Amino acid sequence: MTALEVSGGQPLCGRVQVPGDKSISHRALILAARAGGVSVLRGLSQGDDVARTAAAIQSLGAGVEHVGLDSGEIETRVTGGVDRLSQSEVPIDVGNSGTTIRLLSGFCAPFPWLTVLTGDESVSRRPMDRVVQPLRQMGAHVDCQPGCVAPLTVHGGSLTGIEYHPPVASAQLKSAVLLAGLGAEGDTVVYERERTRCHTEEMLAACGADVNVSADGLVTRVRASELHPFELDVPSDPSQAAFWVVAACIIPGSDVVVERVYVGPRRTGFVDVLRRMGAKVDVEPVDAHTADIHARYGPLHATEVGGEEVPGLIDEIPVLAVAAAMAEGVTTFHGAGELRVKETDRIATMSDELRSIGVHAAAMADGLVVHGGNPLHDGQVRSHGDHRVAMALAVAGLGSTGTTRIDGWEAVATSYPGFESDLQSLL
Ligand code: S3P
Repeated sequence: MTALEVSGGQPLCGRVQVPGDKSISHRALILAARAGGVSVLRGLSQGDDVARTAAAIQSLGAGVEHVGLDSGEIETRVTGGVDRLSQSEVPIDVGNSGTTIRLLSGFCAPFPWLTVLTGDESVSRRPMDRVVQPLRQMGAHVDCQPGCVAPLTVHGGSLTGIEYHPPVASAQLKSAVLLAGLGAEGDTVVYERERTRCHTEEMLAACGADVNVSADGLVTRVRASELHPFELDVPSDPSQAAFWVVAACIIPGSDVVVERVYVGPRRTGFVDVLRRMGAKVDVEPVDAHTADIHARYGPLHATEVGGEEVPGLIDEIPVLAVAAAMAEGVTTFHGAGELRVKETDRIATMSDELRSIGVHAAAMADGLVVHGGNPLHDGQVRSHGDHRVAMALAVAGLGSTGTTRIDGWEAVATSYPGFESDLQSLL
């Protein structure tokens, strides 16, 4: 187990480019595997989660080649197509990646194969009934372990489209059903109550799939389609940008620009929350989908986070809880019960760890209450194996008055292996 030690009170200044967006990277690989021909992807997330998706599509028959460019970037060439895909000879191990297991269960379901999907201890605790139920309704035979957890066995083929009303707001679930719908007979329609991130439908449209989204973004319809190969520069990940943005907002003297961040629908809710808290955060557009996010230190005050906005910032709540700890007043996060079934129970892990460094934080069934304004002190905290908890606690340490040691730091390899070197570059 490795640890990171950070000292508080040092301003962060400069420009930083965070990894390629993780959600877009998974989908780019999966859609490229189905598209007939060679797709070219630049700037994929370099974390272990996306590497698991790349390995998975390879074991299903896609060609994956990583080429170093003169610019220092890595270009990934994926040779895909339904004709070259086949049953994986080995179980597919998704590691820590919930997105990989849920998206692949839908991806594999239309094919007449048997696919075994396994993962680490954390993935094997996470609920899979949300994808298993609709895939069974579409005609796939899906076996799971008691409590409907991984390993999953998907016996696919001969699917029929369904009209599906997801019981939880989840882009992974929506995406699994849409990917299955790509190989189903008839229409597959997903009716969401709350909008979730829409990368799958946007990228399906870009590859020529027969997909339609209603004007309010809540209803997505897909039909069996052939996909054409594509070229993509993956924009930077707003969920990773959030760590530097919050750090800049809470450390006196800080002034940070995070470059070329994806700012499409349902991904930048954390910026709205920080602005409500009085933070100095500017979003400076670069092109239609990306912007530089410029954050400077300033005093923060408490806010309420909940309801419809939660799916658009669910992954950022751990680091927003750190911002809340540094703000005057009591901040409440509610309607966020999904946090309990992420890589860890983030309501429990964040409230316990923040308390250990002096934050008055309390867990609720579906959220957190954070009493802000008390200085954070020295301490030793634990990631619990959760990358976002590790990085949120590093930000808390940077905003503290002492030295904080984060045990289980290796968890950041899941999504942001370069976090420590980016931190050094901003100090
Ligand atoms: C993701 C969707 C969200 C998010 C996860 C990535 C995706 O999960 O928390 O980190 O790429 O679709 P849910 O779909 O479970 O809400």
